[in-house]
This record gives sequence, C-alpha cells and structure tokens, in this order.
Amino acid sequence: MSDLGDLFRRHLAQTSDAPIGLEIDRAQGCWLYTRDGHRYLDMIAGIGVSALGHGNSAVAEAIADQARRHLHVMAYGEYVIASQARLAARLCELLPQSLNRVYFTNSGAEAIEGAIKAARKFTRRRALAAFDGAYHGDTMGALALAGNPTFREPFEPLIAPILHLPYADERGLAAIDQSVAAVFIEPVQAEGGVRVPSRDFIAALRKRCDANGSLLAFDEVLTGFARTGRMFALEHFDVVPDIVVMAKALGGGLPLGAFAARDELIGVLAHDPPLGHITTFGGHPLSCAAGLAALEVIAAENLAERARSIGQYLRDRIESLAAPEIANVRGIGLLWGIDFRDADFAHRFAAAALERGIVINWTLNAETVIRLAPPLVISREEIDFAVDAMRAALRDARR
Ligand SMILES: Cc1ncc(COP(=O)(O)O)c(C=O)c1O
Repeated sequence: MSDLGDLFRRHLAQTSDAPIGLEIDRAQGCWLYTRDGHRYLDMIAGIGVSALGHGNSAVAEAIADQARRHLHVMAYGEYVIASQARLAARLCELLPQSLNRVYFTNSGAEAIEGAIKAARKFTRRRALAAFDGAYHGDTMGALALAGNPTFREPFEPLIAPILHLPYADERGLAAIDQSVAAVFIEPVQAEGGVRVPSRDFIAALRKRCDANGSLLAFDEVLTGFARTGRMFALEHFDVVPDIVVMAKALGGGLPLGAFAARDELIGVLAHDPPLGHITTFGGHPLSCAAGLAALEVIAAENLAERARSIGQYLRDRIESLAAPEIANVRGIGLLWGIDFRDADFAHRFAAAALERGIVINWTLNAETVIRLAPPLVISREEIDFAVDAMRAALRDARR
C-alpha cells in the first residue's frame, strides 16, 4: 500500500470495511487516472454528480472567475450574491411555473431536511410518508424516510411518525390520510434498485395527496439535470409536485443542494421564528457559479436528448451480453440497473469490473442490482469499452 493509502486507512473515518480505494491523481472526461498509472472509466459519474464528466472547461472557468471575485461573504440569505440569484432564477425557468422559489443548501440530505421543515410548518401536520427502497440521505430526518430498516434501526429514535409505503404500488396509497404533511418520493428510484414507476402510479399519488391536503415532494437529487432523459424526471409523469429537491449534479461538481416550492409554502421558513432555518454555507457562491455554468452546458448541448439516445445504446449493448446470470435490465435515460439473479454474483461482478478498468456501483437497497449512470457526455466508444470490460468481468465472476 502506498503512503497515501496508508494515511487513508489509518486516519480517515471509514464508511465501510471495503472502500474502493482507488488513489486518484486526476480526472478528465469520463476517466479517472490513478497514481499508479492506471485509468478507469467512471460509469457512475461519482454517484450522479459528474453529469458533464470531469474537468469541464466552462465549469472550471466559472469557478476561477468566482474565486477571484469573492468566496464566502455572509451566511445564506442575507446578501445579494450574483451566482446564487442567477442560478435560482434559471432553475425556476426550468421547473414547472408554480415552483418559483429556491432555498439553497450544501447537500441533498440537508435539502430534504429543509423540505421536511417547510412541509410540517406549512401544513401544521407531523406525519410524513415515504416508500420502500427509498434513499433520501443520511441525516436524521432524511434517514427516517429511508426505505430500508437495516439502515434506520441502529439510529432510532428518528423523527416520527413516518408511513413507509410500497413503491409503485397504487394499493398502498390509501394509507395517506389527513395526518400526512408530505409524501417524499424519488420519481425514479436509484438506490432502490433502479425502479421506474408507471405514469398511472404517480398520477394516483398526486390525486391521493390532493384529496388529503398532503404535499407531494419529489426527490430529484439523482434524477435531476437530464439524467433520466429530461431536465427533471417529473417531466415524464405530467405531474407537478409541491416541492422538488435537488443536489448532486446541481453544483457542477461542487457541493450544493436545493429545494424549490411555491412562494407561500417555502415562505414559512422566513418567519415565526425568523431565522428558524438557516445555513452558513448553503448556496456557496463558488458552488452556485459552478452549478450555473454546468446547467447552461446541459441545456445548450441538450444533454437530456443525449441521455435518451446514448442510454438506449447502452441498454442495447448490455442486452447483447445475453448473460444467463442477468435476470433483468431496466432503467431510463442514462440510469440503468442490471438485476442479477444472485447478490454474491453481482458483488463479484462489480469487483471484477473494477479490475477490468470500469467503476460501476451496487445499490444500497437492492443487493442484486448493479447501477450504471455514467457522465451524460460518454461516447459510444467508451460504452463499447465498458461493455467489453463487463463481458470479461462476467467471465471472471463465474470462476
Ligand atoms: C435520491 C437521493 N436523495 C438524497 C440523497 C442525499 O444526498 P447527499 O448525499 O448530498 O446528502 C441522495 C444521495 O445519494 C440520493 O441519491
């Protein structure tokens, strides 16, 4: 192990017993370059963040320009910060018209927390609902919404009451009643095993929320910014949620989260008490500048359309592997899950793929599913490289 690897092992708090452990030297486009001279194709875009790949020059220039002007100058919400105001306005242009105000945070989980607080205060209700397989982040509120009890239980008591409903199953919606402040849902689940609900299910959910005066919050942390082939996944469903939560690709590679809602809903955070929901670094000028530059590239280069076409190519190539160990390939845009018949095989496959030079990812709440969500700018040649590596990895995993 190198000196740095040794420091990493000895002094960095670990999140598992088996970190991937690549020693990154630099990253460019869809590739990660390690200190030992190898390169790896990033088929997970840093878990959904690097939509433009690594080292995009427009983003780098926006960061440099903002860094020369100013970095942090005041806690969020007090001064007029150009990059923040412009990014908020641009997001409101792209979101459904009623979502006309944005609260910036540092991360996805924090944006979920803010959305929970706004929903409870606006409705004066306490209960929340979420779905099995859900992942909304790891702070105490977001974790309470998590669909997998294994991750919740060691940290209980979490906020309550929470209704955990079956995902994509209309029969479960009857449990939403007038005690529910808000229902949180990922319009497409990633950590839940890449699951795409039907339009009917989402329409029924909207209807049930309306009938009971419950708010509907879409967690677009992973699905936002063209990942599913639309700027926001909500566009697939013809439904307008009351709250949209964003993060990951929002910051163009820097930490940034946000939630958007209509004036009177998000406005409850400004009074009774004033300053009842504040953050020092939320909407950092540097993150907003990077995010705005990234968003302009995503829009100008129509990367949503690209996600659809190159995503279809990726899907067809995965299907061509025709591996008997694969039960199902499913997804949308450039977010695909390979569902294996056996969880151990899936894990061996992911490890073998890394050896073969591609980074892929298992999912937190579905042990048999491997996720593919590369940068939206990935080329056909790079996908061919990934598929060849996966073919070899399948062979390796069989041994
Ligand atoms: C759908 C979804 N929501 C929320 C989060 C939490 O975001 P963060 O890690 O920025 O707190 C994630 C992170 O993976 C996510 O995938």
